[in-house]
Amino acid sequence: MSVPTIPETMLPIGISPRSSRRTHRILWAGMLSLCAIAVAAVVHRLVALAYPSHDLPAQVAALDAAFARRPVLTLIHIVPAMFFIIFVPLQFSATLRTRHPDVHRWIGRFLMTLSVVIGLSALWLLRDPIGGNTEVTAILFFDGLFLLAMAKAFFHIRRREVALHREWVMRGVSVALGVATVRPIIGVFFATNSLSGLTPHDFFGVAFWIGFTLTYLFAELWSRHTRLRPEARRQLGSLPNRRIDFEAQTHRPSGI
Ligand code: HEM
Repeated sequence: MSVPTIPETMLPIGISPRSSRRTHRILWAGMLSLCAIAVAAVVHRLVALAYPSHDLPAQVAALDAAFARRPVLTLIHIVPAMFFIIFVPLQFSATLRTRHPDVHRWIGRFLMTLSVVIGLSALWLLRDPIGGNTEVTAILFFDGLFLLAMAKAFFHIRRREVALHREWVMRGVSVALGVATVRPIIGVFFATNSLSGLTPHDFFGVAFWIGFTLTYLFAELWSRHTRLRPEARRQLGSLPNRRIDFEAQTHRPSGI
């Protein structure tokens, strides 16, 4: 079954049929790259927990030791996080939503459940933060946003408010992907610490603030840029809730 063609007036603000394909390809590449970094971070932590290495620079060894002291809690956080990251791109696929709406719904419920485990375990991990108070403030702010966004996304879809559901999902997912943006920033801090003299305690929190903020701002701008045009909203708003076509509210050539 092919995806129905939507009149130009019904396309989201900021999207023209010509520009959208290339932009969406870039977005997909960006999202999948962040997912790959996040999965690599989880695999790295799993390997470090299973096979502790004794031949590491002091600061990396201290970091590994911090997670080795709380292996169960770390696993409760990172294993659901890995499944979240693996499944989340599927939810942005318009093809999956159109052809298999039930699969989209079941994956959605699975991801909502995982997000509760991830968000609460992050708070628990915060009892012994590597990055001190700066990390605590970043995590409290963005974890709160993550849990709020996923709860709002769930609430809106229960009321069939698909456009609002999409916006809140994007906010929540942007926080999860922010974890990946943080990694290269931490990498730069590690690579330059012989010059700067900064330790993970000094730079972890700063890296969290920078990475989470950049990813969140990007998602927020994209979400606003691609909001439905007022005429499309008016047309959709005049339909009885139950009859609102799922894809008509969310249609983007690639789904994001
Ligand atoms: C869903 C995507 C996520 C992935 C893939 C992920 C991955 C990880 C990994 C691998 C670790 C272990 C640290 C390391 O090896 O460097 C970790 C720790 C942590 N994560 Fe997540 N995480 C995710 C979501 C979140 C969210 C949404 C938050 C809250 C905003 C969060 C907060 C934390 C905290 C506080 C720690 C412990 C850091 C410390 O002890 O200083 N994570 N995460």
